[in-house]
Amino acid sequence: MIRYDEGTGGRQPLLTPVRVGDLRLPNRVVMAPMTRARAPGREATDLHAAYYGQRATAGLIVAEGAWVSERAIGFPDVPGVFGAGQVAAWRRVTDVVHALGGRIVLQLWHAGANSHPDLLGGALPAGPSPVDPGEVCRTPGGPKDTVTPREMTAAEIAGTVADYGAASANARRAGFDGVEVAANGTYLVAQFLNPRLNRRRDGYGADRGRLLLEIVDAVTAAWDGRRVGVRLSPYWTARDRPSPARSPGRGAYPYTADEESLAGYDAVVAELDRRPLAYLHLWGRAPARPGAVPDFDEFARFRKLFGGPLIVNHGFGRDSGNAVVDAGIADAVSFAELFIANPDLVGRFALGQDPASDDGRSRYGGGARGYVDYPIWPGHQPPPGG
Ligand SMILES: Cc1cc2nc3c(=O)[nH]c(=O)nc-3n(C[C@H](O)[C@H](O)[C@H](O)COP(=O)(O)O)c2cc1C
Repeated sequence: MIRYDEGTGGRQPLLTPVRVGDLRLPNRVVMAPMTRARAPGREATDLHAAYYGQRATAGLIVAEGAWVSERAIGFPDVPGVFGAGQVAAWRRVTDVVHALGGRIVLQLWHAGANSHPDLLGGALPAGPSPVDPGEVCRTPGGPKDTVTPREMTAAEIAGTVADYGAASANARRAGFDGVEVAANGTYLVAQFLNPRLNRRRDGYGADRGRLLLEIVDAVTAAWDGRRVGVRLSPYWTARDRPSPARSPGRGAYPYTADEESLAGYDAVVAELDRRPLAYLHLWGRAPARPGAVPDFDEFARFRKLFGGPLIVNHGFGRDSGNAVVDAGIADAVSFAELFIANPDLVGRFALGQDPASDDGRSRYGGGARGYVDYPIWPGHQPPPGG
């Protein structure tokens, strides 16, 4: 692979401007959404404003997943975007990022069956069908196995689509430049897309992409022009599961990429291509080992089906990120873990500086430590406590 490490003299495709829907990005280095679980009142705080402000040199920030409603909740201390206080709190964040010259969209999140009664006031989580998704859910009392959910009724589905529309309008009021629909990972929309979890006999089972498309239409209606992105993870497998580990004896993991599931993704991406999206954001399979180059062919499959801007993710670094843009497979690349310890990741790429590693212990929960205290270059100090 070509090395793009010539410092400021090297031509790096990642450092060229690009148009993504109605957004003009000065570079193609996107900050991927990251839940950091630092909103105990489910509202963003001044720490969020500082954290995203520090990262405003990213071509685009995709802010952490935010709940579209109270019933969408599935993780402790994650902010929402369904209440007036939450909108006002996010406004402080977007104002800071804009004052510093950045662009920020908000990811819209619904956990569906990947939640737990402990997070829902004792109520059973609802999902496409009464099938336990086999996940481990973080709760205020520690990690717990997911349970068999209730099947969402048609009225609940309609209410959920409306919640997404309202959350999208709230995000606009909060000053975001757009929104991203989280249809990736193991959450509500991905559950509907999964043939093993969606066993419905109605129109949402016959067409597993229908929920996503209805959500996209509701979310898009809140904006003029192209301000909505969609995030998908067609290749998600057990290898992509974050810790904590599943308990033994829970049966086969329901997510695996096979021809049936990939054909479903092909169909839904072709439908998304007909909508006025800002971008498609693809999470590829975890590279075979840390540091290995991601498989570009996985993205190329969907590049052929989607004519709009494509953002790719998972395991990229500076050289592989530049190469995937150079190859014409992606328009931009998103980075998650690298943005934890490198608020100035764009500057480090430009200058050929090696990125720092985060301490791994303060990803979820806590306060300023491990969140807003990573140095801007020239740092090269060990991470806090490291
Ligand atoms: C701490 C942490 C929190 C994350 N939270 C989210 C999230 O809220 N929404 C989402 O779509 N992905 C989330 N992800 C996944 C990342 O966006 C990204 O897809 C993944 O880390 C792989 O990219 P990377 O190799 O650049 O880190 C999270 C990842 C990490 C490490």
